Amino acid sequence: MRYKISSFIMISSTLSIIVYILYTFFKSYNMMNYIIHPITIFFFIIITILLIVLEFIENLIFKKRLESIPEEIKKNILEENEGNYFYRLYKFIFFDQKNDKVKKIDHGFDGIIELDNKLPIWWVHLFLITIIFSAVYFFSYLLIDYSNPYKEYDISYKDQLKKIEIFEKNTPQITIENASFKEELIDSGKTLFEENCATCHQSDGSGNIGPNLTDNYWINIKEKDLFKNIYFIIWNGSDNNPTMRAFGKSGEIKGNDIEKISSYVYYINRNPKKPKGKLPQGKKNLNWSI
Ligand code: HEC
Repeated sequence: MRYKISSFIMISSTLSIIVYILYTFFKSYNMMNYIIHPITIFFFIIITILLIVLEFIENLIFKKRLESIPEEIKKNILEENEGNYFYRLYKFIFFDQKNDKVKKIDHGFDGIIELDNKLPIWWVHLFLITIIFSAVYFFSYLLIDYSNPYKEYDISYKDQLKKIEIFEKNTPQITIENASFKEELIDSGKTLFEENCATCHQSDGSGNIGPNLTDNYWINIKEKDLFKNIYFIIWNGSDNNPTMRAFGKSGEIKGNDIEKISSYVYYINRNPKKPKGKLPQGKKNLNWSI
């Protein structure tokens, strides 16, 4: 008998299965870098060539052997191998020609005779594949990272963080020149303010160690427009008092986030409803350009 599967199918499917297994099971180790490595590709090419040569030799031996076989058997063998590969595959999957007799099961007690039809061979193959798959899946679930939801979550969480980091690195942050008050930033600004500033200014900005940010009195007047003044102070800190540190300059808070916080501070400062806050500090200033 010759091999039922031709080498061009065998080779490509074996290689793709290997690559697939490496990829899915060792995803976390960046396996793709090794698969696309020149050495692995070279190795795959050599294997392919060897397999093709092997099949060629196999064919030669097959033809040689046929010469010494009696006519009748030869005819049978040739019949079995007739047609191209796909035709033979089709026959192999859907017809099992050797056993076409149907077994009968006699129940005895009820007089019914049951036909024990053979299951279609494709069905049996599928069934076997599911059993093999379940065993592989079971052990890989137990032993390695593959398909374990907690580990998968962990991996994709780290991936996400890395992507965010790269994104933040590559997208230019807003600076004082192009920052402006945006109403849609107030909410996220409030959250950031509560995290970074509320210890000294209270979450409503009414003041604690730091001055009240909701009144019209300012110690630091560095810019003509109110929003930019707030941005300036958060970026550079205060010259008079290092307690108000340079959040932006030091890299502690990025430009985009400072725009959000400034939007919140601007909003609470302009809001006519003022909380009862710390007593005014600095000069009264109502002459902001915006
Ligand atoms: C460790 C305490 C502290 C923290 C945290 C802090 N500040 Fe301040 N802040 C101060 C002090 C003290 C001053 C007064 C500085 C001065 O006298 O010049 C000040 C001043 C300011 C001013 C200027 C007020 C004025 O009248 O000139 C603004 C605006 C301000 N802070 C916003 C913020 C924001 C926004 C954050 C969060 C990112 C923040 N601060 C975090 C202590 C703090």
